[in-house]
Amino acid sequence: MVWNGRKLLLGITGSIAAYKSTWIVRHLKSKGADVQVVCTPDALGFVTPLTLSTLSERPVYSEFVKSAGGEWVNHVELGMWADLILIAPCSAQTLAKMAGGLCDNLLMAVYLSARCPVWFAPAMDIDMWKHPATAKNVKELTSRANHRMLGPANGALASGLNGVGRMAEPQELIDALEAHWASTNADVLPQATEDLRNKMVLITAGPTREAIDDVRYISNHSSGKMGYALAEACLEQGARVVLISGPVTLTPPQGLYAFVAVESAHEMQKAVESYRTKFDIGIFCAAVADFRPVHKTTGKIKKQDAVTRIEMHPNPDILAEVGRNKQPQQFLVGFALESADGIAEARRKKSTKNCDMMILNRINNKGAGFGADTNRVTLLSALGIRELPLASKKDIARDIIQHLILCYIPS
Ligand code: PMT
Repeated sequence: MVWNGRKLLLGITGSIAAYKSTWIVRHLKSKGADVQVVCTPDALGFVTPLTLSTLSERPVYSEFVKSAGGEWVNHVELGMWADLILIAPCSAQTLAKMAGGLCDNLLMAVYLSARCPVWFAPAMDIDMWKHPATAKNVKELTSRANHRMLGPANGALASGLNGVGRMAEPQELIDALEAHWASTNADVLPQATEDLRNKMVLITAGPTREAIDDVRYISNHSSGKMGYALAEACLEQGARVVLISGPVTLTPPQGLYAFVAVESAHEMQKAVESYRTKFDIGIFCAAVADFRPVHKTTGKIKKQDAVTRIEMHPNPDILAEVGRNKQPQQFLVGFALESADGIAEARRKKSTKNCDMMILNRINNKGAGFGADTNRVTLLSALGIRELPLASKKDIARDIIQHLILCYIPS
């Protein structure tokens, strides 16, 4: 599919044509693209974040700092996330800022941070378009690598005048994107940059089973999907991946450096220990049982034995142990599965387990956590707190790895 998995960052600027951007978002989404909207402050006079976030199913960004909570919106990360940036409509003002490299709003910071193709669809009145200053800016921008201008079209303008300056029709923009992606290897998802080449990544996944007797055990509902998706995302980035997995029904991805199947927390701990000094990045996604029965009965406990209590003993905390012995070059990622006080608990676990990044999973989030094909997580790292909206575990895994690369490999 041409569109599936494509990440498009739509920049909207202050122009009456901004109302057409809502149509663009809707149609890109219906085709399967992932759309992140970034508005200039002036754009918000023409369209509302509520409309755009509802259509894009992602938060809409327009400021460097989110008003609620004072969190930083990471423009570098947004720029790196996108496969293509489309600025539509692109006002005369934004065109000039792009040409001059001015950076007085979030969209400009994203533009300056991006490495992907940048397309822009100018929208302005006829005389603004014909002005020598605009002509000079257009000449500069169209001479830049990876830049492409679409339109403007000829026709009725908001001023009542007629002539060149109308934003290209949304359908034309979408057709141009489709043609571009069809010609750049339609069936391939965004090209991996192989930023983890030569790095060894250790991943724990799935549940552990703590035996009560030879047929019964204590466990949890982890399916392994999140951990296996992370393994795939790391393989895409060229890493040597060691996957240590509790009992799941999934097939391990092709191309792993090593796969170790385990049952209990003790077995998982032993497997992790054998790679502890070898890996560069450790991602601890497994839902390890915190307790195990003190005694495992050989054979099957009989119904007549009427067991009403099972005495439990705490299991080793595998991640905390690795965290205590972390080597300077190692980067540790933990998951925190929480039902209440998510951020505070995730922060606490990040610190007590000596992690560089903690990924918060809230068990009461619909479509997230155990078993689901989708997830919704919050990332806590040196780059601050970042919410990843509901998406497939494969996409969430790719986003987590992109975020990790930003934290781990300084540019
Ligand atoms: O497998 P799926 O169905 O796809 O579901 C994914 C998931 C919900 C299991 C996953 O996203 C997730 O949240 N995993 C962590 C679950 C968990 O055990 O959270 P915790 O808050 O109890 O543990 C915190 C961290 O310490 C985790 O990184 C965990 O792997 C680690 N830990 C915990 C206990 C222990 N004894 N040893 C550990 O290493």
